Amino acid sequence: MTEVIDVKMTTPEAADFLGITIQHVHKLLKTKGLHYQKSQNRIFFGHEAAKSLFNTPFKRKIITFQIVKGGTGKTSLAHSFAIRASLYGAKVLCVDLDQQGNLTSAFNFNPDKTPVIVDIINEGINVRDAIINIYPGVDLIPSRIENAVLDNIIMLNKHPLDRVYSNILEKIKTDYDLIIIDCPPALGQSVAAATLASDCVIAPLTPEQFSLSGLKITHDELSGLSRKYGKKIDLKIVLNKFDNRTALSSEVLTTLLSHDIYKNMLSKSFIRSCQEFPNTIYTGSTIFSTLKNSSAKEDIDLFTREILELNGIRTTN
Ligand SMILES: Nc1ncnc2c1ncn2[C@@H]1O[C@H](COP(=O)(O)OP(=O)(O)O)[C@@H](O)[C@H]1O
Ligand SMILES: [Mg+2]
Repeated sequence: MTEVIDVKMTTPEAADFLGITIQHVHKLLKTKGLHYQKSQNRIFFGHEAAKSLFNTPFKRKIITFQIVKGGTGKTSLAHSFAIRASLYGAKVLCVDLDQQGNLTSAFNFNPDKTPVIVDIINEGINVRDAIINIYPGVDLIPSRIENAVLDNIIMLNKHPLDRVYSNILEKIKTDYDLIIIDCPPALGQSVAAATLASDCVIAPLTPEQFSLSGLKITHDELSGLSRKYGKKIDLKIVLNKFDNRTALSSEVLTTLLSHDIYKNMLSKSFIRSCQEFPNTIYTGSTIFSTLKNSSAKEDIDLFTREILELNGIRTTN
């Protein structure tokens, strides 16, 4: 039996990305003998076919979603970005560092019987034994409440901040094109260690919870760590739950664009407010599981292309 395609890249989406016609994409799928499905007159495919079709030369990266505030979309963006990246052919590992395990539940995974990061650090469990496959091309190191002691463990056992997570990830880094770390809304040893293991930190901001001081804390912390450990880590700010009809959203955008430092860190793509984010997670699904068009899909697609620098690559022939 051929595998059911859970998360989907459609032929119009692929055609748009590659700058070719939908018919051409369809022909490529056929001639390359790739696995695709058809439903509601739409043709779609998954990670394996995407890998072959797009043949994307990814730059290997570790990206952390963090900001001190909760509810700004760290988990939602990490989740949908991971899936979208896999649909461009990337092999992705997600690491859930938040003891609330929201990313783990977004992936519908029950972590009760599997090791989490704290077990790897404390009990020397092999990191490979903590990795769960969720979708083709998407793996997860889950989290549960026991990870709440990570800050203390790192401090009390004097684990070097710049090595504790990077040593773990080092062993498996070459297995993946992209590693995505989802952090709790906190500043502490664990989040600092995740920052130091990363090439890039993405801080989602929402207009309704916007605070320049919150952003400043994250930025200062990152600059401090970067200086102290001599490591270059990019900060990218992404506006989430953006609604250009509201004065608040425009105000926040203007504030950021007129800020000397932050204007250069703001991602070009915004994520609009869209019910598909909470709805799909609530039903244990994802925004890329349905064939229905949504702004969530469009925005995460552009965001993924921007962060992974996919635009202009188009290598398929
Ligand atoms: N663009 C969006 N539009 C609508 N709801 C969103 C959007 N992004 C996130 N949400 C919702 O906001 C809530 C908080 O998001 P979440 O990703 O859990 O934030 P964090 O991880 O930063 O705490 C969730 O209910 C999520 O479904
Ligand atoms: Mg979260």
